[in-house]
Amino acid sequence: MIEGKKINKILYGGDYNPEQWDEATRDEDMVLLPKAGVDIVTVNVFSWARIQPSENVYDFSDLDSIVKRITEKGINICMGTSTAAYPAWMAKKYPDILRVDFEGRRKKYGARHNACPCSPTYRKYAPKLAGKLAEHFKDQDNIVVWHINNEYGGMCYCENCEKSFRDWLRKKYGTLENLNSAWNSAFWSHTFYEWDEIVAPNELSEYQMGRRSQFPGISLDYMRFNSDMMLQNYMDERDAIKRIIPDAVCTTNMMNLFKGLDYRKWAKEVDIASWDNYPQGFTEPHYDSFAHELIRGLKDGKPFMLMEQSPSVTNWLPINSLKRPGEMRRYSYEAVAHGADTLMFFQMRQSPASSEMYHGALIDHSGRDDTRVFKECAALGEELKRIGNATLGGVAPAECAIIFDWPTWWAIEDIGGITDRVRYPDEMISYYRALYGGNVPVDIIGPESDLSKYKLVIAPTYYMVHESDKERFEEYVREGGCMLFTFYSGYVDENAHILKGGYPGTLRELIGARIEESDQLYEDMEHFYCEGIRLPEHPANTSNSFVYKKKSYPAYKLCDVMYNEGAEALAVFDEDFYRGRPAVTRNRLGNGYVYYIATSSTGEFYSQLIDDICGECGVKNVFGDRVTAADTWDGVEIALRSTGSRRVFYIINHEDMEKQTVFPFDGDELTEGKTISAGDTLRLAPKGVNIVSVQNPLGSS
Ligand code: GLA
Ligand code: ZN
Repeated sequence: MIEGKKINKILYGGDYNPEQWDEATRDEDMVLLPKAGVDIVTVNVFSWARIQPSENVYDFSDLDSIVKRITEKGINICMGTSTAAYPAWMAKKYPDILRVDFEGRRKKYGARHNACPCSPTYRKYAPKLAGKLAEHFKDQDNIVVWHINNEYGGMCYCENCEKSFRDWLRKKYGTLENLNSAWNSAFWSHTFYEWDEIVAPNELSEYQMGRRSQFPGISLDYMRFNSDMMLQNYMDERDAIKRIIPDAVCTTNMMNLFKGLDYRKWAKEVDIASWDNYPQGFTEPHYDSFAHELIRGLKDGKPFMLMEQSPSVTNWLPINSLKRPGEMRRYSYEAVAHGADTLMFFQMRQSPASSEMYHGALIDHSGRDDTRVFKECAALGEELKRIGNATLGGVAPAECAIIFDWPTWWAIEDIGGITDRVRYPDEMISYYRALYGGNVPVDIIGPESDLSKYKLVIAPTYYMVHESDKERFEEYVREGGCMLFTFYSGYVDENAHILKGGYPGTLRELIGARIEESDQLYEDMEHFYCEGIRLPEHPANTSNSFVYKKKSYPAYKLCDVMYNEGAEALAVFDEDFYRGRPAVTRNRLGNGYVYYIATSSTGEFYSQLIDDICGECGVKNVFGDRVTAADTWDGVEIALRSTGSRRVFYIINHEDMEKQTVFPFDGDELTEGKTISAGDTLRLAPKGVNIVSVQNPLGSS
């Protein structure tokens, strides 16, 4: 819910870039957009050059005429600040705004998302523009959200960034002595005696052997620094707007599983989280849901804005296949089911030229309102009017959480020695998939989040441990909470320094075991080349397996060689010199359990495991029932949003054939306006969605 604004339905619309159109086309838009049920448009995302044609001239006349037309139609506005692409004159006059790339090349003017975050020019003119816009539109009541910049991302390695990096480090470490010790700079003689000896870690410096850092301490801090600097850019603009409009709702659109920025830190500064979802057709449905949960989790479960999705195709894949009939609707409701309170597209009308002219839009090049895409969008627009505020503000009442942490992601994937097969998000998604298959509401949280409201907290590859973790986690478990860790947990502190005493460091009592070695598996890697080195064709350790609940499962990626110190083994490895050593353990601590999974395996294994663990820890599915193994998943996803007085179930058929499901409560089906009785069989159309609202018997979520 966009707080503080009078909104009583899911806002529907998206990016509208009429600066590319003549007046006649703009007039046509004002007929077509309302026809499709559009009630919000995002304007001014890329208009800087038009608004500020030269250094001292600001001209809002064109934007005024766009805003006037939209306002006359009663459409809400999401106001962009235009700062994701600066004018060419600015780069010519002030080259400090141009980025220096990873290879050390100073870029020339071009493309977008291209400003050096530390450029004095950018830091002066971007907030200035935001402030001017706020001043100009302060009485424009239909601006419900401010959309700052656009998809922040990328890195810069210029001299201004280097200087700011040193300031950032000085603030963080105080002295060079602290910094040298945090980075273990005695290694390879990296000790710094003056601050200005420190340079940006890129291909010219610490990455001379490929994409893994030769000096992880500095690289990890550079990721943090870059994220902080871009966040500062965002905050500069936000503050400029709020100085004039104190209650302005400000956000910026985030991206799908984007590694470059610590979104959890960013989320503290946005009033509502928002993101752009471009599912690529070939990913399984749980992947999209995970991305939604990740964004929803950034603001402690509060609803978010779906800022962009394509009504049909994208233009940036090598092959851009169509969303089939019904898919746009299905993706849309999947977003709402997991917390979206707006449904917005990129874009309202296709560009007449330039790089995105073939990107899908509500209105395509034909300008017609009877295309398949337009008709599907208009039908959804109608439906959203009917649904009204039924789920607005609703939250997922999750009893289970997964911990996801950006600095851990950076640290674990940027250091030699960790198997290349480990991709941090994949480890989360393996467990999430099983929960998703069992229709279990899940929150994605950070390491610092309050655990007390969850029955089960899953922390795959919990590689980076924070000082307070030991005490907090142990207390949580002693009081009855359950936790699950996997391989590569408890290795380093926040500076990527190995924790003393071996793995899993300070998590040892919690897990009730120690890990002495980890055996990385080559499986299926006969033809695998790594940075020019061909790996052996028939290495010794290609596979392993373990038996869990009388069934054998393969072990993938790596196997920990672990020794229990109180934990019991629920499964042991079958082969190699560590045959008989634990593969799955459970440790009782106070009133709770801690599980440890020493390898990676199949979806079938995760389903069985999650089924058992949810049973043991008391985690229920959306209907409040015991979770049943997810490998029986029938392609139907059921997600729940609870508004307090109502529980609204989204029943999504991801498959191309009709499905049936028995619905356990009395309720109202919102898309068709039917009444449902407990035990009724719902017939789900191929790729169809049904939404059933049920009275919340407890009267609260
Ligand atoms: C991103 C951007 C948009 C547009 C779309 C195209 O999400 O924010 O400006 O380029 O991609 O898919
Ligand atoms: Zn820079």
